[in-house]
Amino acid sequence: MRSMRLAVALGAISVGLACAPRAWAGSGESGPAAAPPSAAPAAPGASAAATDPAPTGTVLRFSRAGSSAREVDLATLRARCGERVVTVEDPYYGTRKNFRGCPLREALRIGFGEDPSWLAGRDVVFRATDGYAKPSSGSRVLEDGGFLVFSDADVDGGRAPAFAPIDRKQIDPAPFYVVWTKPGQDPHRFPWPYCLGEIDVRQVTDLYPHVAPVGEEAGSPALAGFETFKSDCIACHAINGEGGRIGPDLNVPRSIVEYRPVDQVKEYVRNPASFRYSNMPAHEYLDDRRLDELVAYFRAMSRRKHDPGKGS
Ligand code: HEC
Repeated sequence: MRSMRLAVALGAISVGLACAPRAWAGSGESGPAAAPPSAAPAAPGASAAATDPAPTGTVLRFSRAGSSAREVDLATLRARCGERVVTVEDPYYGTRKNFRGCPLREALRIGFGEDPSWLAGRDVVFRATDGYAKPSSGSRVLEDGGFLVFSDADVDGGRAPAFAPIDRKQIDPAPFYVVWTKPGQDPHRFPWPYCLGEIDVRQVTDLYPHVAPVGEEAGSPALAGFETFKSDCIACHAINGEGGRIGPDLNVPRSIVEYRPVDQVKEYVRNPASFRYSNMPAHEYLDDRRLDELVAYFRAMSRRKHDPGKGS
C-alpha cells in the first residue's frame, strides 16, 4: 500500500519533467503515444538505447544566479570525476539500476572550479533541458550519497552514454540524471532531476519572489518553516502562485490556515492518507516542532498575500 502510494506520488512529481520524449525504436516519433505499453526497464530498452546516437554536445551548465555560467562537457567530467558504476533502488524506474556517473560533490567541484562547501546555506536549482526547475537546499545537495549519472550501465553495453526510457512517460533522461544511494534519500526530500541541463546556485526567492516571509526576524519559526517548505513542499505546492503545481496553492486565494484547523493541517502533512487516499506523500519524519514552524510560515504568508489570479 505504502509503496503504491509512493509510486503514485512520484509519477505526479514528474508531470513537469517532460523534456525531450524518447524517440522509441522503430517509431521515430516523440510523445507519450510512442512509448511502449509497459515500463519494463532493462531488456526491451537495451538495444534501442544502445543504438541511439549520443546527444550532440553533451554539456552540463554550472551557474551562479543564472550568470557566470560555465559549461563542462561529458568527456571532461568523465576524465576527472572518479567515474564509477553505482547501484540505486530507483524510484522512477521502479527497480534496482546500475548507472555510470560521478559523485555529485566531485561534479560540483569540477563545474564550479572549487570545493563546493560554499553551497551550504544557499539554494540550488536543478534545471531540466525543458526549463523545469527543481529547487533544493545546498546542504542537502552536499550530503553523501549523491551521484550525477550520465549512462545506464544495464543497457549501454559499455557504450555510454545511453539510458533506458524513464518514468511513466518513458522519456529519455539524458543528458544527466541525479540519483541518491543512501536509505531515506527519496525524491520527496532529495532532488532526483532527470534531463538535467543546468545546476544553478541561487536563492529560491530569485525564482519565486513572493514565497518568502519577508520581514520575519532571523531565527523566527516562520523562517525555519520556510526552509522546510523550500526543501520538502515547494516542488509540488505554490505559495502566492509561485512553485509547484502538483498540489494546491497553499496561500491564495485562501491560506490553508484560514480554512483548516491547525491540528488538521499538521496531521494532514504528516499522514495525508489518514484523511483521504491521496497523491501527497506522507511526511512522518517531520516532528511537532517542524510542523509548528510550517504553520508559522503559512500564517506569516497569509499576511503577505499576492494573488496573481486577481485583477488580471
Ligand atoms: C509529491 C507532491 C507533494 C509534496 C512533496 C507535498 N504535497 Fe501537499 N499535496 C499534494 C497534493 C497532490 C495535494 C492534493 C490533495 C491530495 O492528494 O492529498 C496536497 C495537499 C496538501 C494539503 C491539503 C490542502 C487542502 O486544502 O486540503 C496540505 C495542507 C499540504 N498538501 C501541505 C503540504 C506540505 C506542508 C508539504 C511539505 C512538507 C507538502 N504538502 C508536500 C502534493 C504534495
